Amino acid sequence: MMPGDGIGKTVLPEAIRVLEAVGFEAEYVHADIGWDYWCKEGNPLPQRTTDLLHEYKLGLFGAITSKPKDAAEKELDPALKGKGYVYFSPIVSMRQLFNLDLCVRPCISFKGNPLNFIRKNGKGGYEEPIVNTVIFRQGTEGLYAGIEWTNPPENVREAFSTHPKWKAFKDVPPEELAISTRIVTKKATVRILREAFEYAKRFGYKNLTLCEKPNVLRETSGMMFKIAKEIAKEYPDIALWDTNIDAQMMWLTKNPEEYGVIVAENMFGDIISDGFAGLVGGLGFACSANIGEEVAVFEPTHGSAPKYQELNPSIVNPIAMILSACMMLEHIGETEKSQNIKDAIAKVVEEGKIKTYDMLKIKGGADSIKNGANTTQEMTDAIISKL
Ligand code: NAI
Ligand code: MG
Repeated sequence: MMPGDGIGKTVLPEAIRVLEAVGFEAEYVHADIGWDYWCKEGNPLPQRTTDLLHEYKLGLFGAITSKPKDAAEKELDPALKGKGYVYFSPIVSMRQLFNLDLCVRPCISFKGNPLNFIRKNGKGGYEEPIVNTVIFRQGTEGLYAGIEWTNPPENVREAFSTHPKWKAFKDVPPEELAISTRIVTKKATVRILREAFEYAKRFGYKNLTLCEKPNVLRETSGMMFKIAKEIAKEYPDIALWDTNIDAQMMWLTKNPEEYGVIVAENMFGDIISDGFAGLVGGLGFACSANIGEEVAVFEPTHGSAPKYQELNPSIVNPIAMILSACMMLEHIGETEKSQNIKDAIAKVVEEGKIKTYDMLKIKGGADSIKNGANTTQEMTDAIISKL
């Protein structure tokens, strides 16, 4: 149990309440993570937390607060300043440390959710397509692997100069230069594609889309596409589609119901999963899993929403965190309990009596409750009452 910062501390206990109500018997072990531990200890992911993850293998994670470099330095305990401590986002660190390379993000509409995507049909009315898309985002490589330089050292520039395209930059003064690299390996690509195809097969999806940009990123996207074509041969019942990330962002509001499983590199997967999440209720509904070969961490995709952390009663939607706990149950084979919870959520959403502020499409804040929104706890209570 890594509640972290801000509303992570609010929503994680709500998910535990639901897990207990559905009869999932477990020992919930608290672990420290987040901004406080950066400020006090110079490490937002203390060793004792990674030790617990090694020991127990399953993590439920709320959210953390990250701040830019200068702010991080400023808020560090004065006794630690100037000693070489550098802030790294603990969720990114966990992905690297435990090789949590599969970021799975289901985006599935609940019937009756007022936040569902609707579009005009050709007959003067509206239609509400049921979206059922699961994004497999590669979580450890790609552009977010973070190999970057400002003012790159001489040997780095030399290495780049072996590439013909460097010509355009060769006269740029190094101090005016920042470089990022996008790294893709065959091993991780094979693993994510195979897992995604297996998932599509298990849950009956008819297509798997590789969402990349091979016409421009010829080497990295190109390699992914080549491997996808190879693996697809083993899954004759699942069509392999390819889309470009930019076009996909357009199509997701045009015909989202056609897409089953989507695989993408780290950054593209980040973008596309937020895009699809917006069609099924947004951050209050967006759950995710970070799955490695040994350890798995389940988290809502939203952050710590600091502007709401002090509100009492709390107004944020606990469903994203609760659905993340469902993914944890599925990961360990407790599919029935997970389904029970998802059915309970579906009933509450369809009934439409209990709605958090986001579901009412009103502004969040201290007035939300007065303006008709239910509290975080009321939403959880409603879900539990349906179990
Ligand atoms: P955010 O996700 O915390 O909030 C964005 C907006 O989404 C909020 O203002 C709120 O209107 C809405 N929202 C988020 N969660 C909600 C919920 N459960 N129910 C209803 N509405 C909800 O993202 P933001 O504001 O960009 O970042 C705040 C902090 O969170 C930053 O420090 C950022 O670095 C961190 N962050 C952490 C993540 C993580 O722990 N995995 C992911 C994203 C951001
Ligand atoms: Mg994101």
